[in-house]
Amino acid sequence: MESTTPKLLLKLILLLYVSGFLLFQLLPLAFLLHIPPLSSPASIINSNPSSLFPKEAYPTKSGYLPVNSTTASSIFYIFYEAQSLLLPDLSQTPLIIWLQGGPGCSSLFGNFMEIGPWHVNLHNHHNHRQLPSFVLEPNPGAWNRVFGLLFLDNPIGSGFSIASEAEEIPRDQLAIAKHLYVAITKFIELDPILFKSRPVYIAGESYAGKFVPAIGYYILKKNDELMMPDHDHDQSQILINLGGVAIGNGLIDPVTQVATHADNAYFSGLINERQRIELERHQQEAIRLAKMRHWREATNARHQVVDIVEVSLLINQGDLFP
Ligand SMILES: *[C@@H]1O[C@H](CO)[C@@H](O)[C@H](O)[C@H]1NC(C)=O
Repeated sequence: MESTTPKLLLKLILLLYVSGFLLFQLLPLAFLLHIPPLSSPASIINSNPSSLFPKEAYPTKSGYLPVNSTTASSIFYIFYEAQSLLLPDLSQTPLIIWLQGGPGCSSLFGNFMEIGPWHVNLHNHHNHRQLPSFVLEPNPGAWNRVFGLLFLDNPIGSGFSIASEAEEIPRDQLAIAKHLYVAITKFIELDPILFKSRPVYIAGESYAGKFVPAIGYYILKKNDELMMPDHDHDQSQILINLGGVAIGNGLIDPVTQVATHADNAYFSGLINERQRIELERHQQEAIRLAKMRHWREATNARHQVVDIVEVSLLINQGDLFP
């Protein structure tokens, strides 16, 4: 890898940062530039301690978890072990699995911008003619302080996860759950003594408000099946010790939730009466399209609803979003 490439890439990312949205798709690319290419999807990526990142910033494990025995489709993962022990030993320490929303956003957004042990931040130079640079900084609010923290790029096709055929990319929550179930099982099998008995908490935000209940429910069903007395004891099947689920700002049932946006914004004092009427009109349109199962149009209509609230926030409150 030529040394100029990362610099060029960082500049490219910086340019895209202005348009905002693509940032989290590309940041992980910069992170991985210094890691040798994979020999096979199932191989573990080796950290290269001689690179520009501090040694502590490297994950405990990362790599690919195959989800289909007949194809190369795999879920990319990064795992950070708990930094300190609350319980007598690691094999009882809870594991948190993080799923990003989107759908289609890499969970590395959550890792580098939200809950991972190291954040990617922009550092502004004193000399304002110099472009700001990216810095990696410890996150005092990291979720792996006392829990193991596993990020999965879900579904296949998002982030670094591999979809060997476009047809294999899930189109419903059951298909999502099946892939996640295989991936979680494969992760536990990487080190059964360390992982098998640990309580698993599935957490996520935004569109993961659909993924989290889907995989949570699927695990409960599978565990029930595995505990049936007449179940033929297939060695490849393991119980997942589900401890709980957690959802932040989840889009769980858009038709119900979108219907409340105008009232929420109005009674929070964020929009005025005229804007409330306009918003109600737009949200009714989004709901109408969703009920007709015109998903793309419904998604666009909902984005318009959210845009209207955000624009009025920017105008009315000035610095709410610095
Ligand atoms: C595995 O891949 C095959 C071939 O593309 C496909 O027919 C099958 O549905 C896939 N299974 C899962 C669980 O994705």
